[in-house]
Amino acid sequence: MTERRLEGKVALITGATGGIGAATAGLFAREGARLVITDVAQEPLQKLARRIEAGGAEVVAARLDVSSAREWDAVTALVRDRFGVLDVLVNLAGIVDWPGIEDTQEKAWDHVIDVNQKGTWLGMKAAMPLLRASGNASVINTSSVLGLVGSGAAAAYQASKGAVRLLSKTAAVEYARQGVRVNSIHPGVIATPMIQELLDEQGDRQPDIRRTPMRRAGRADEVAPAILFLACDDSSFVTGSELVVDGGLTAH
Ligand SMILES: NC(=O)c1ccc[n+]([C@@H]2O[C@H](COP(=O)([O-])OP(=O)(O)OC[C@H]3O[C@@H](n4cnc5c(N)ncnc54)[C@H](O)[C@@H]3O)[C@@H](O)[C@H]2O)c1
Repeated sequence: MTERRLEGKVALITGATGGIGAATAGLFAREGARLVITDVAQEPLQKLARRIEAGGAEVVAARLDVSSAREWDAVTALVRDRFGVLDVLVNLAGIVDWPGIEDTQEKAWDHVIDVNQKGTWLGMKAAMPLLRASGNASVINTSSVLGLVGSGAAAAYQASKGAVRLLSKTAAVEYARQGVRVNSIHPGVIATPMIQELLDEQGDRQPDIRRTPMRRAGRADEVAPAILFLACDDSSFVTGSELVVDGGLTAH
């Protein structure tokens, strides 16, 4: 058997019960990681934990609202007590709000920024002592193609994902000599619960799918291996980079 790429590494995933989160947790487990899976959704989290455990991997499930500094402190304390270090942090938790500039409500703006942008910063802040203790750690933050180019809609989401891109780069520079790499991933249209309604309504006529050179939505299990690459030692000289997984959408 070839060596598993995350053998023994401790990995914390936020938004773990989501489409991309669950695919990533499953892949990480198969690659030998010891997992801390977190989400605000409790029941799906317990289910996912049981599934991963049944596959033979070590897994801890914990509630974590990424916009809460207090909850981050509780979860990182749990990781410290159980494992002493953290090797991989995958910030996947995210929410979307579709309206453009004028139709975005202030409350919705604050919520999206709190979860997507502040949550990513809080996660790195809370986990950094444990990541440093690893000496060979990797953080993967989730931006989007909507963190690279404008769409004319989703004002709060675009602002949050653009911020995640630069937050990741500055963190990469800050921690490059402390054994912590930081990169961002930029999925295109991926068939997950987040956009399922749009896909159900519009199918392949969905405008972003029609603009995608591959002419289809991606699957969560096509994003997870990109996250795995950034998480494992195959990417040991990769930091501050942005990995686009979008079927060519932003290539033109
Ligand atoms: N699906 C896409 O087309 C797409 C494209 C680009 C980027 N992304 C990004 O990928 C990431 C994963 O999204 P997905 O497509 O799997 O969506 P998803 O809706 O299936 O998963 C998102 C997860 O985040 C969790 N979550 C929501 N608010 C939270 C909070 N405050 N604290 C902790 N967890 C919270 C949800 O419970 C859910 O499990 C998100 O950051 C999303 O913005 C998705």
